[in-house]
Amino acid sequence: MVTVKTGEEIALMRESCRIVKETLDFVGKNIRAGMTTKEVDELVYKYIISCGAYPSELGYEGYPASSCVSVNEVVVHGIPGDRVILDGDIVGVDITAEKNGFHGDAARTFLVGNVSEEKRRLVKVTEECFFKAIEGLRAGSPLFDIGYAVQAHAEANGYGVVRALTGHGIGRSMHEDPAVPNYGRKGTGMRLKAGMTICIEPMINMGTYKVFMGGDDGWTVVTADGKPAAHYENTVLITENGVEILTL
Ligand code: MF3
Ligand code: CO
Ligand code: CO
Repeated sequence: MVTVKTGEEIALMRESCRIVKETLDFVGKNIRAGMTTKEVDELVYKYIISCGAYPSELGYEGYPASSCVSVNEVVVHGIPGDRVILDGDIVGVDITAEKNGFHGDAARTFLVGNVSEEKRRLVKVTEECFFKAIEGLRAGSPLFDIGYAVQAHAEANGYGVVRALTGHGIGRSMHEDPAVPNYGRKGTGMRLKAGMTICIEPMINMGTYKVFMGGDDGWTVVTADGKPAAHYENTVLITENGVEILTL
């Protein structure tokens, strides 16, 4: 179901999203080569709890951690564990927080230590894909203009756009309608409405767009060719005049 939030609901969304943003800033300040992905997850858990919120990925459809920590060839949904983060890795950290019944959701891909130029470029272009997608976006915009913009920018840079997962609406549930694909035809899809809150989250691969879903643990999504991938996500509010990024 597509939901349009009231003013009061938007105020609560803002609070949950602020906590998500602050948590990611905290992770960014503390992430280091030599840490395990589980240690990153502990930072996330402690920070979100200290804000009086709940890390709502924990227990979501049986997901066993408070964050998704996705290193290099892991596109998304990396389960935190014993993998040690190495100098030169790119590390996607995707978190959600729930407070007062509303969820915020965002992801960053952090550069750890001395990262190669080609990986830096992948991360930079992935972030740019998000900003291209929100350029000119407002109430009345066709939904698939988002995916069109992401795909155009990623493919112009020689990268693959993951199709198997999408962005989504968000509110009282972490995942609401509509699905927000990162590919699509300009001018198509439902018209966005003021008061909708959606997550725009480009998942961009250095090589093929193809991925393996789930692996041994049922969650981890990896690139089919083993090349690196990057992920960048924000929760945004659609307004009459544009968008407001709630997790920045
Ligand atoms: N935060 C993710 C998203 O962007 C969802 C993670 S799945 C979970 O939609 F199982 F980890 F919760
Ligand atoms: Co997310
Ligand atoms: Co999301």
